[in-house]
Amino acid sequence: MAKKYVSIDDLEVGMFMEADVREGAKGSASKNVLLLGKGMLITSMTQVRRLKEAGLENVTIDTSKGKDVAGGQVVAAPPPKMREPKREKPPPGRQELFKDEIKRARKIRGASVKIVKQFMSNVSTGGSIDTEKVGLASKTLVGSVFRNVDALLSLTCLKDYSEHTYTHSVNVCILTLAIAHASGVSQQDAESIGIGGLLHDVGKAKIPLSILDKPGPLTDEERKIIMSHPLYSEEILKAMGDIPEPAIAIACQHHEKVNGSGYPRGLTGDQMHSYASMAAVADVYDALTAARPYKPGLPPHIALRVVFDGKGTEFSDRVVDNFIKNLGIYPVGSFVKLNTGEMGVVMEVNPQDSLRPKVGIIFTKFGNQRQSPMVVDLVWEHKNMPPRQARSITQADDPKRHHINVEDYVG
Ligand SMILES: [Fe+2]
Repeated sequence: MAKKYVSIDDLEVGMFMEADVREGAKGSASKNVLLLGKGMLITSMTQVRRLKEAGLENVTIDTSKGKDVAGGQVVAAPPPKMREPKREKPPPGRQELFKDEIKRARKIRGASVKIVKQFMSNVSTGGSIDTEKVGLASKTLVGSVFRNVDALLSLTCLKDYSEHTYTHSVNVCILTLAIAHASGVSQQDAESIGIGGLLHDVGKAKIPLSILDKPGPLTDEERKIIMSHPLYSEEILKAMGDIPEPAIAIACQHHEKVNGSGYPRGLTGDQMHSYASMAAVADVYDALTAARPYKPGLPPHIALRVVFDGKGTEFSDRVVDNFIKNLGIYPVGSFVKLNTGEMGVVMEVNPQDSLRPKVGIIFTKFGNQRQSPMVVDLVWEHKNMPPRQARSITQADDPKRHHINVEDYVG
């Protein structure tokens, strides 16, 4: 093959670069591109630096006129027609493109965390909850989930260690909404789920911080106190007088299990509110993936496995299925190894094929860490490249083993 499409990071002195710069040219970069004429031999790294500054990410090299790329580090080159694929009827929950929704989703998530922080602080000092504010926050979160569920979902892997109680409430809210959406719950009904998600742990405001944040194993007495928080939540929310009933059910039943082994009342699946069954899965998944003073956070694929293992015993079958449907087999933030030997982080789930997400490659096949991730779409490669060249995931791994903080790459 004389022509190869490679990352700008792999461009070296001695390579011949073609003037095919459609892909990766950003904004005014086209002005710089015209200077290339019919291509050029790279004679200095200064040229490479200038091309990078011009906004190029990937280029085509002609190996019959210059050096080949080491190890054949070719990137997937979408043909011009693939640049603006004709959008057929978008799948439900993906009416808006991820790249458009993610900007809004970041703001919505940030504002929601602030609201949770505010009402938790009010309740802990005997004050009340601004239910109108919570209702509006829920409406905004629901809107985003119904436009593109992947945007807010991708942000749930961000865990603010110092504000874990607040981020946990927002994450549980988002994850529960995602399950509700996959289960066919209407946008209007989802608003009470959102309220329940945001408020589900409000009872924790009544638990002493010395127990909530204890950096070690709890005594039986302390565990008992913590396990009373759903009852506190129920009491607080009922007293408000204007909290929808499904939201109160989420708050007092999110630690119940379908086999009756949960708390505070040991309800079984058929006694639980269907929305509370959704929140129960969301709550466990988020708690497992979060790092706490006494435990590290589990990688998403391991946490998903734990949830899957509880299917039918602790968690509702249907809820777990709908959860995995939305999160994918490799949720956003998973650290994965590819068949090429490269390693990277799942940046976006492809809902039509949960085994083939978009991956930001961080380590080359030689184990070298890239300056910035190179994003490849495994569905695109599967459909457009010969089977032996298309990248695929071979396994998920723990990013900490490779000294990678996935939060630096996602969101
Ligand atoms: Fe809880």
